[in-house]
Amino acid sequence: VIEDLRVRKILDSRGNPTVEVDVVTWNGFGRAAAPSGASTGSREVVSFPEGGVDKVITEIEDLISAELIGMDAEDLADIDLVLKEIDGTDNLSAIGGNTSVAVSMAVAKAAAASYNLPLYRFLGGNLKNEIPYPLGNMMNGGAHAGINAPDIQEFLVVPVTASNITEAVFANSSVHKRLKELIQLKDSSFTGGKGDEGGWVPNISNIDALEIQAQACEEVGDELGVEIKPSLDIAASEMWNQNEQKYVYAQDNISRDTGDQIEFVKEIIETYGMFYVEDPFDEADFEGFAQLTAACGNKCLICGDDIFVTNKEILAKGIEKKAANAIIIKPNQIGSLTDTYETVRLAKENNVTPVVSHRSGETTDETIAHLAVAFSAPLIKTGALGGERIAKLNELIRIEEELSNPQMANLFK
Ligand code: PGA
Ligand code: ZN
Repeated sequence: VIEDLRVRKILDSRGNPTVEVDVVTWNGFGRAAAPSGASTGSREVVSFPEGGVDKVITEIEDLISAELIGMDAEDLADIDLVLKEIDGTDNLSAIGGNTSVAVSMAVAKAAAASYNLPLYRFLGGNLKNEIPYPLGNMMNGGAHAGINAPDIQEFLVVPVTASNITEAVFANSSVHKRLKELIQLKDSSFTGGKGDEGGWVPNISNIDALEIQAQACEEVGDELGVEIKPSLDIAASEMWNQNEQKYVYAQDNISRDTGDQIEFVKEIIETYGMFYVEDPFDEADFEGFAQLTAACGNKCLICGDDIFVTNKEILAKGIEKKAANAIIIKPNQIGSLTDTYETVRLAKENNVTPVVSHRSGETTDETIAHLAVAFSAPLIKTGALGGERIAKLNELIRIEEELSNPQMANLFK
């Protein structure tokens, strides 16, 4: 039974305020914080009400406490429903999706703690004890970087043959190190600047960035004896110019219409053997997504982030149109763990790969590591370096250790 609930204002990794929630039950405690995006999808729930985090602390905390105190933390679906009722809007704009998701996650953690279970166990999934592969962020552009950076938002890598999470996260950090050297060879004025998610921000063209990404994967992969594959988040909504109906690549001084964009992305996938490409088109362009998935979906994950915003109804439309074969799962895009889980379930039922993801503005909250394990998501996107990114990666290392200890694993069977 929930005895107390507190909301506080804390820093996120961009220096902006966000909420952290503490939930106290008679025999448990849970704490969770909400992240925030910079290249957000337009159909995400609203992060904070008018008045921001301060309004949450001065007014909304009391509203939520009044309803939730006395409820059973185990009844997460009921609690998520009550949060929606308190809010009363269809986009969580009254209490804020970030408030709602932080409460939802803190309640789940308190319930897990009261059973003495780690969150991933309490949430029940993953009987095979699988750990997700980390999609590591190596270079940043677009909305996560300054001008003169590539337009493609994220140059990612995934060590697809790593034998465990420790090997995987260290492979990613080796690629990150190598890329710094490769950037310096292209641009001697590079001073090691990083973007919001900890990837380097080079002042080079999109193609040059693709070239050194591929080179770093190959060189480090050979050195370590691990196959490391390049991946991208194009975040194309940020490049889409609605008036001109074109994708504007400012760094390269090139604009591409939808047809050109399809050809361009197809060529990138083929040339570099891309493992995963996220948001290759504007969030409204289900058609472009579907064409690329039809052409390349057999060899590459075509993943929707801004297009689906972790929303079950929008994903259903995407499934009908065969728009993608993977979906980004960001709990704060939809505002509760229950809704997040329903979207994951729909995705899995339809062979759409769920990819649990951080946001560009993060805290050291490690909850998504547990969610990725609980959902048996094959991939997790949570950067490669930076305190708020390694918080999740190091938690995965701990979880793997727990799962590989036979005594521990049997205990929970
Ligand atoms: P965001 O970006 O957190 O700034 O929305 C991350 C992403 O696009 O994947
Ligand atoms: Zn994205």
